[in-house]
Amino acid sequence: MLNIVLFGPPGSGKGTQASRIIEKYGLVHISTGDLLRQEVEDGTELGMKAKAIMDKGELVPDKIVIGMIRKKLEEYQDGPGFIFDGFPRTVEQARELRKALTDFDERVTLMISLTVPREELVTRLLKRGKETGRSDDNPETINNRIDVYDRQTIPVAYYYDKMHKHHQVDGVGSIDKIFDRIVEVIEKIH
Ligand code: AP5
Ligand code: MG
Repeated sequence: MLNIVLFGPPGSGKGTQASRIIEKYGLVHISTGDLLRQEVEDGTELGMKAKAIMDKGELVPDKIVIGMIRKKLEEYQDGPGFIFDGFPRTVEQARELRKALTDFDERVTLMISLTVPREELVTRLLKRGKETGRSDDNPETINNRIDVYDRQTIPVAYYYDKMHKHHQVDGVGSIDKIFDRIVEVIEKIH
């Protein structure tokens, strides 16, 4: 299996690049943000609880997120591998992912982190907010999402650093160029 953690701050291009990676490597996409937005859209109890948290730009509790991930892993355990987009976002989530994959005799192959300066993130997300109306793409929530990333999610990069799995990729430039940089890293390892 090829299991990639696609990491980076809000607006760094995780979703955009995940679709390109899937096209090339046929991996199963697991975006916890997309899964949560689906719960909101379906109006489930979990969705209603999550919406209030997401609209503030805070993190949904680890337990909820890990439960969703375990379900997906079981469903696609015989597939070619996974791309994790927006997960893990806390060290606790990273540890739980490791445990869950170990249960299938699998592990994270590599972690790619997209680096993009804060001003560029804000510009991209404000633009998307105007175009699509995604409810957490407003100035106040965007700022908090980036602060939460700096405080609670950056430690995940150190977690993968220690295992020599962390690879930084410059996330500024054209979507094609960034994709080429990502492929270069994947091909070196896989
Ligand atoms: P989530 O859905 O994961 O959102 P996010 O991390 O804030 O990131 P985005 O999806 O906004 O950005 P992206 O990096 O995917 O970039 P994209 O490709 O879209 O999480 C949302 C919320 O759910 C969280 O705040 C939290 O509450 C909750 N949540 C989710 N996962 C969780 C977890 N594991 N634990 C706890 N809570 C969780 O690109 C952004 C924009 O930029 C797009 O408009 C795109 O077209 C544009 N763009 C992309 N690439 C480029 C480029 N190269 N140049 C110019 N523009 C570009
Ligand atoms: Mg995304």
